[in-house]
Amino acid sequence: MVYVKSKRELELMRQSGKLVAKVLMSLANAAVPGTKLIELDQLAEEMTLSFGAKPSFKGYIGYKHTLCASVNEQVVHGIPSDRTLNDGDIIGLDFGLSYQGFHGDSAITVAVGNVSDEAKELMKITKASLYAGIDAARPGNTIRDVAQAIEATIKPHGFGIVREFVGHGIGQKLHEDPQVPNYASGASNLKLKPGMTIAIEPMVNRGTHKVKVLADRWTAVTEDGQLSAHYEHTIAITEGEPEILTAWENVLDDTNTQVLITHLKERSKYGQRGPNPA
Ligand code: MF3
Ligand code: CO
Repeated sequence: MVYVKSKRELELMRQSGKLVAKVLMSLANAAVPGTKLIELDQLAEEMTLSFGAKPSFKGYIGYKHTLCASVNEQVVHGIPSDRTLNDGDIIGLDFGLSYQGFHGDSAITVAVGNVSDEAKELMKITKASLYAGIDAARPGNTIRDVAQAIEATIKPHGFGIVREFVGHGIGQKLHEDPQVPNYASGASNLKLKPGMTIAIEPMVNRGTHKVKVLADRWTAVTEDGQLSAHYEHTIAITEGEPEILTAWENVLDDTNTQVLITHLKERSKYGQRGPNPA
């Protein structure tokens, strides 16, 4: 069942999307050498609660954190831990919240310090495929057109498009119909209509498209250990241009981020919050 959102519902989606963008930009700024993944998770949770919003992932089929943080060969659903980011890492930051009953969901892959040209190329092409998919999300087009646009962007580079995880409708639930695969052969011919809201999220590997899930039962990694990148936006289909609801592109650098990080570090030092908040 695909829900078409009313004007009022779209306005609420717009508000939650903006908050998602703010959090993600702060996380991107905080993802520097020396930062621990758990600190990013704490920052995400702190900001979410300060907005009067709720983390979408925490408690979702037993997931215990606010953020998914996937480093290097990790594809998606990396669990924030005490792991420290190193110069040269790339990290996929995947985050969602609900505000006034509506979810926003977005992901960005960022370079930690100086990264290889291979990593930069992978990030650039994966991001380009997201925008190609968004551009195809217009009334009259189908889910398959979106998938085709993503696939056509990746193909010439010979990278692997992940098949096990797909984009999704989004609204009062984090995951709604329809599924939004990143390759045409897996996609439906459902026609897009104004008022539909979907999360488009290509995951692209430098090598094989194949992934495996680690013993923690969440972290998906590339089967061959090569790098993977992930970008995601929540968008609304409109009569005209697709509207990017989680547009981090428009959010200015958050100068409070360093202050917040220091604050969180101090607090965890005094043991008021451990690495695995219940
Ligand atoms: N953006 C991802 C998705 O839509 C994140 C979900 S993680 C979970 O599937 F913890 F919520 F499962
Ligand atoms: Co998603």
